Amino acid sequence: MPALTVEPLTPPAGSSIDFGAVIANADLENLTDDDFTTIRQALYTHQVLVFKNQHHLTPKAQYELTRRFDPLATTYGHGKTIDAKRSILHPDLKTIPHQPQVQVIGHGTIESYEGLHNITLKHPHHRTFHRDPIPLEDDYDFTRFYRWHIDAALYGLNPPMVTTLLAVRVPSGRRQTLRYDDGSGETMEVPLGTTAFVSGERMYDLLSGEDRKFALRARVEYAPHPYIWMSPARSRPTGLGMYSDNLELPLSDLPPIDESSIQVLPMVWKNPDTGKPALQIHPSAVRKIHCADGTVIDDLERVREIVYGLQRPAISPQYVYAHDWEEGDLVLFHNRGVLHSVVGAFGEGEVRLFRQCNLAAGEGVVAYEGGN
Ligand SMILES: [Fe+2]
Repeated sequence: MPALTVEPLTPPAGSSIDFGAVIANADLENLTDDDFTTIRQALYTHQVLVFKNQHHLTPKAQYELTRRFDPLATTYGHGKTIDAKRSILHPDLKTIPHQPQVQVIGHGTIESYEGLHNITLKHPHHRTFHRDPIPLEDDYDFTRFYRWHIDAALYGLNPPMVTTLLAVRVPSGRRQTLRYDDGSGETMEVPLGTTAFVSGERMYDLLSGEDRKFALRARVEYAPHPYIWMSPARSRPTGLGMYSDNLELPLSDLPPIDESSIQVLPMVWKNPDTGKPALQIHPSAVRKIHCADGTVIDDLERVREIVYGLQRPAISPQYVYAHDWEEGDLVLFHNRGVLHSVVGAFGEGEVRLFRQCNLAAGEGVVAYEGGN
């Protein structure tokens, strides 16, 4: 087999993305230590890696690739979601019976796949999460970022290092116009059902000096059982955090809370290979900000305004990589260095089948503490 190569993505016209790369000639089913070393370094340099033609990758090999970044990890990133009915996370996410860390997601009815039979999958539509969705008559041509996030339970379990996504079936490609609908007038053309990524390192780089100083010292407290807590609340039109309409569930309505499971994480995370800083905040799960001087901002509306102000510049179209999925694509991304979002909505008869794997990390997030 020819040697493995790493080819950085060429940004399309008008884009200024500085992350993403395509890896060729990787035998992921039988990955050598040398090739893994190259892939690991490429991942932490480029944040998002695309491997083409991985149709035959087994769920086991997908799990092992994911785990190789974090040998201490063994459980799915969200663990066993208690009270799954009230959680906003993939209500119909299906687990592969013989490889329970790998989940099947997508859209439509699948007769049989990897030991699952007659399953119905549903691609999330922004109307189920955004407060003011795109009107039905525009819904075919226009779309939104569904929800910008990090793959993480944010309660009890450490955020996964990486996520792998394999496109098994992809409906053939119309395009949609993604609208921000936040008064900015920004839009971008995207492939139907794209996954959108932005770089947390770019998000940090775009901060003013003052904001960097603040972000480097502040920590974010996430809500207990965040995906249940936020379930009645509704998102901004950019998918970047929630409106504050006092709809969050009171803590007394949540499953029992173990105080030691509540996560208070730095805002700026250190890249494990390059040492670079990335602004990494899950915008819809934040509840409080702990400031450098020990004060705690617990006015939810203000907390969200602060986080939105830090993050919003970096989701403008020129900073977004919208992956144009082809069947057989395996995308491996640095979950502690990017934010990502589902996009688009499929119609009747448009079947999509993906496999996703991420693992609650063996180790906690490392704060970036360096200079500027
Ligand atoms: Fe995700």
